[in-house]
Amino acid sequence: AKKFYKGYIRPFIRVGPHGYFWMAGYGDHAAEIYNLDVRPDDIWVVAFSRSGTTWLQEMLWLLENNLDYDGAAKVPLTKRYAFIEYPTMASEVRPEGPPPAGKSTGATVDDYRNLHTLPAPRFVKTHLPLSLLPAKLLDTAKVFYIARDPRDVAVSFHFMHKLFRYFDEDVQFTDFWELFKKDLLLHMPIFPHIEEAWNKRNHPNMTFLFYEEMQKDLCGVIDKVAKALGKDYTSEQKSKLAEHLNFDNMKKSTALKYGKEDKDSEIKFMRKGVSGNWVKYFNTDELKREAEEYMESHLNKTDLKFPDLS
Ligand code: A3P
Repeated sequence: AKKFYKGYIRPFIRVGPHGYFWMAGYGDHAAEIYNLDVRPDDIWVVAFSRSGTTWLQEMLWLLENNLDYDGAAKVPLTKRYAFIEYPTMASEVRPEGPPPAGKSTGATVDDYRNLHTLPAPRFVKTHLPLSLLPAKLLDTAKVFYIARDPRDVAVSFHFMHKLFRYFDEDVQFTDFWELFKKDLLLHMPIFPHIEEAWNKRNHPNMTFLFYEEMQKDLCGVIDKVAKALGKDYTSEQKSKLAEHLNFDNMKKSTALKYGKEDKDSEIKFMRKGVSGNWVKYFNTDELKREAEEYMESHLNKTDLKFPDLS
């Protein structure tokens, strides 16, 4: 991992019950994040990176804010949500300065330090696993967790590593996968991250969702999320929201742009927006077999099941 992450990032640390891989800067903030004051009307989106966090954030914000599309268009999502662990990452830019693509990831993002100043309901986004979040979170606030097939996460995460300049652009997916399958990348391991939330899926404050479920039945997920928020909308309003949340529409929205993106490459925040794209990158028999073994070895140990795409 060191070879690929080079000197851009200070050494990683392993934290929490599953040895989550975080940038060293996290250590300076861990206790304060763990001890944050959570409020009953807070709305928290928790997800492993590249699992559909942004998609769910936009849905939640609109459902909670009476479908205020104008408001959503005016204020970038990065300003509508506090990204609580942001300073743990912001401290890790390259010595020569912030990477160009990283600039708009949010030098002005609200983080855990100004959470107490935000108006209610506070919208919070985090890639931290539940075990590193305040112990009272789930008993206090509404939590929305989104999981995605780790093979699709791997591909998407690979391109994110290039977008945010963690890795050089010429790093091949096969090299990335070697690290991914051994949990040697930022925020890993992914399975325990998902399982921590999955194990709490029946908690009354937890809404556990799959990216694949949003792909297959976005209106069904809108219903589920609206219900969890205690909101009631007409089918027409819900269809309009589903249209707004469609990949191409969200991609066009300037309020959701991240960084300087090259039109023709896959190094983009809003990259493909589909499920099953992993097949394109696991493109040899050996890689396909490895991907299958990887999934099986993890899924065998749990009752977690990803939705069938067919
Ligand atoms: P891909 O790289 O596979 O396209 P996160 O927000 O957690 O970082 O997740 C980013 C992933 O969600 C990217 O996946 C991105 O394209 C996808 N995504 C974002 N908005 C989406 C939408 N409206 N519909 C489908 N996928 C979306």
